[in-house]
Amino acid sequence: MVSETDFIANHYCTEIENGNFQWSAPSNIALVKYWGKKNNQIPANPSISFTLDHCKTITKLAFTKKEATENFSFELLFEGQPKEDFKPKIQKFLERIEVYCPYLKSFHLTIDTENTFPHSSGIASSASGMAALSMNIMSLEKVLNPEMTDDFFFQKASFLARLGSGSACRSVKGSVVVWGNHAEIDGSSDLFGVAFPDKIHENFNNYQDTILLVDKGEKQVSSTVGHDLMHNHPFAEQRFAQAHQNLSEIKNVLENGNLEEFIKIVESEALTLHAMMMTSLPYFILMKPNTLEIINTIWKFRNETKIPVCFTLDAGANVHVLYPENVRERVLQFIAAELVGYCQNGHYICDAIGTEAIKIL
Ligand code: DP6
Repeated sequence: MVSETDFIANHYCTEIENGNFQWSAPSNIALVKYWGKKNNQIPANPSISFTLDHCKTITKLAFTKKEATENFSFELLFEGQPKEDFKPKIQKFLERIEVYCPYLKSFHLTIDTENTFPHSSGIASSASGMAALSMNIMSLEKVLNPEMTDDFFFQKASFLARLGSGSACRSVKGSVVVWGNHAEIDGSSDLFGVAFPDKIHENFNNYQDTILLVDKGEKQVSSTVGHDLMHNHPFAEQRFAQAHQNLSEIKNVLENGNLEEFIKIVESEALTLHAMMMTSLPYFILMKPNTLEIINTIWKFRNETKIPVCFTLDAGANVHVLYPENVRERVLQFIAAELVGYCQNGHYICDAIGTEAIKIL
């Protein structure tokens, strides 16, 4: 079994003067949710997600050798402009991964990053952002240690991304990704995400995700605080057990294509996530009135038409509307006619299952 110490770089050469890379990494939407963690970003339960095709972060990393090696030295640009307020998060990330990437202090780094979705959309960029940065860091490590295998490259990239933001480890390799030990999923690990190992039913080919932007503001409670509130949560143990059970069930559904079952698991997971928030101490609510309007309208539409459209939520008010490609036209008409009015400024993003991180340069 792979352990944390396997990711400590100890064979590398830092005699390289400079270079640069560029990677794009997708955002992802969880079907079975990660909510609650142990020390060192170890998840309290396993999760599974679809990566997205359009919502991505594109990050460029330039490195130059420097003399002093006591401190990290980096610049952070967002869309080409210096962005001081993102720096503390990156500094913290570099400190967390230092033991695994001791070479980082030998270089001055310029990190230039941009998202394909608007920064103020309420779509978290931490998953795609931490994944894109980790890919670049692994490209640097690969230059210093050309012997590295591809498997190790992606495993360690996901391992590093997890230390930046848990869900980021699901934005590295594969388009349906499992993170967290699960008895029935070969190769699954708490340390990194793995591509779902079994054949996925064609019903899920190019599965659609239309993201309804209900509230683009800053959340009142961050995911990190929310995870923390699962410690001593009265329903924590039942919830973690339920996630294992739901992952077993969704594994079968992904193989047999049963959309009715898919809908039950996915919607129950979304509502359970928010139920955990509402029953923690302190309790909080991230859904908005329009989130509930949308859910009720989707349920009514599904009842009337029997079209297998469902919703999921992440830690915010926005709604992800999930449906198969063969009902796309009909669902987009429904969204335009009945749901757009609940979106802030009528904004929504049409996306679909995507691919893993991609090297651009
Ligand atoms: C509700 O990965 O953002 O989206 O590890 O503290 O950075 P940190 O949390 P984060 O949590 C995501 C929670 C979620 C569910 C999920 O994506 O599985």
